[in-house]
Amino acid sequence: MKISVIGMGYAGAVTSACLAELGHYVTGYDIDHRRINSLNSFKPQIFEPGLEKLIEKNCEIKRLKFQHVDDSDLDLGEITIITVGTPSDPNGSPNLEYIWKSVEWATEHLQQNSILLMRSTVQPGTGDLISTRFCENKNINYISCPEFLKEGEAVSDFFTPDRIIIGGNNSDAIEKVVDLHSGISSPIIKTKIIAAEMIKFASNAFLATKISFINEMANFCEAWGADVDDVKEGLGLDHRIGKSFLNAGVGFGGSCLPKETRAFTSLASNYGIKSNLLESVLEVNEYQSQIPFRIIKDVFADMNNVKVGILGMSFKPNTDDIRESPSIKIAQTLSKLGCQVSCFDPVSNQKSEEKLGSTVKFETSIENLTTNKNIILLMTPWEIILNSNWHQIFESMIDPKILFDGRNSLDPAIMKNIGFNYIGVGRGISSSHLDHLSW
Ligand SMILES: NC(=O)c1ccc[n+]([C@@H]2O[C@H](COP(=O)([O-])OP(=O)(O)OC[C@H]3O[C@@H](n4cnc5c(N)ncnc54)[C@H](O)[C@@H]3O)[C@@H](O)[C@H]2O)c1
Repeated sequence: MKISVIGMGYAGAVTSACLAELGHYVTGYDIDHRRINSLNSFKPQIFEPGLEKLIEKNCEIKRLKFQHVDDSDLDLGEITIITVGTPSDPNGSPNLEYIWKSVEWATEHLQQNSILLMRSTVQPGTGDLISTRFCENKNINYISCPEFLKEGEAVSDFFTPDRIIIGGNNSDAIEKVVDLHSGISSPIIKTKIIAAEMIKFASNAFLATKISFINEMANFCEAWGADVDDVKEGLGLDHRIGKSFLNAGVGFGGSCLPKETRAFTSLASNYGIKSNLLESVLEVNEYQSQIPFRIIKDVFADMNNVKVGILGMSFKPNTDDIRESPSIKIAQTLSKLGCQVSCFDPVSNQKSEEKLGSTVKFETSIENLTTNKNIILLMTPWEIILNSNWHQIFESMIDPKILFDGRNSLDPAIMKNIGFNYIGVGRGISSSHLDHLSW
């Protein structure tokens, strides 16, 4: 099939390359010339394992190309997929500015009987509105087929998703979107547009709830001296609960979970609903992201003297995405309070520097980052960070040599044995055990 994809960010670049790999002829469009140029030279501006190779291969066999929306030779094909960004407004409600612009542009150029497929995450109700406002009078079929990729594993997620949700009003259009996915053997759920939109929102809100739940349990574990990892093991073996998304830590970030959870809480009042549960999920998440601040406040008499090294800036490993990353939030908090903050990330130093400016220092190696620091905050468990020479790091630090493991990804016994004042999240080795330290 001939396909166009609008919006070449994380979701769009992966969708384009993977659909081409399935055998479709794909053109990816964006409003950003630099993005288009970098994709046409096989160097995407985003870091996603496996993506670069897939782009190069499919461009070379002429199944994939990238164009600017203003190019004159437009041919959107049988299906146009929207993957533009849907950020939050400052009050938390979804901002659909990019959606309206891209839908307007696409429906102007689409042929009759073609399909407009929404892969961006839009609040329930948006699809029916687009369908009546932009599609019906032009005989264009609207389909909601939400994106569920996980950054860092997006390419494999595309080919082996847990499910494919296809929401639409026209059965021929739904079947065509089923065909679009042929080659992928995951379950397909065919539903109404509004249900497809709700499934996406509800999935992210549930995952966020799971994380905040385990984080709250971690805080109780900390108080009572239990290890939350043992608790996770016992909880997760109950098949009604499952182990995934039960890792305690400094909270969730990224472009999806915070945004979609906030959308529920900010839109609730429009419908006379009070979203008590999801408001608490966000509150717990905010509280978790500030754990390093509370540790530093407890241990050090004067914030101005504290030398902090932050290891990992992306919101999780294997991506350069720093949107709503806990590392960014804590770097901002600590530098505002006067701490001397240095940061290192294997791939997102530049993006983080653009965001944080000169308020913090960026280092190009783990060794430089950890040298002469009082406290190291391990925020993103990249393999390269976990496999560091921790003995060397310990030697390079200055007292009180605190290692805060914000993702519980190191062995506490080994780290304590090396000599670190190790603190995890809910591992029963709380900052109250650092009472003897006073700096
Ligand atoms: N990133 C993820 O992990 C992920 C996962 C699931 C769902 N989603 C959803 O997918 C959507 C896209 O997310 P993303 O992370 O890829 O966003 P992004 O910000 O990385 O990329 C959006 C792209 O759209 C382009 N764009 C904006 N307006 C345009 C227009 N009118 N025409 C053409 N291009 C335009 C931008 O220049 C940018 O390149 C969002 O709704 C998001 O919630 C993202």
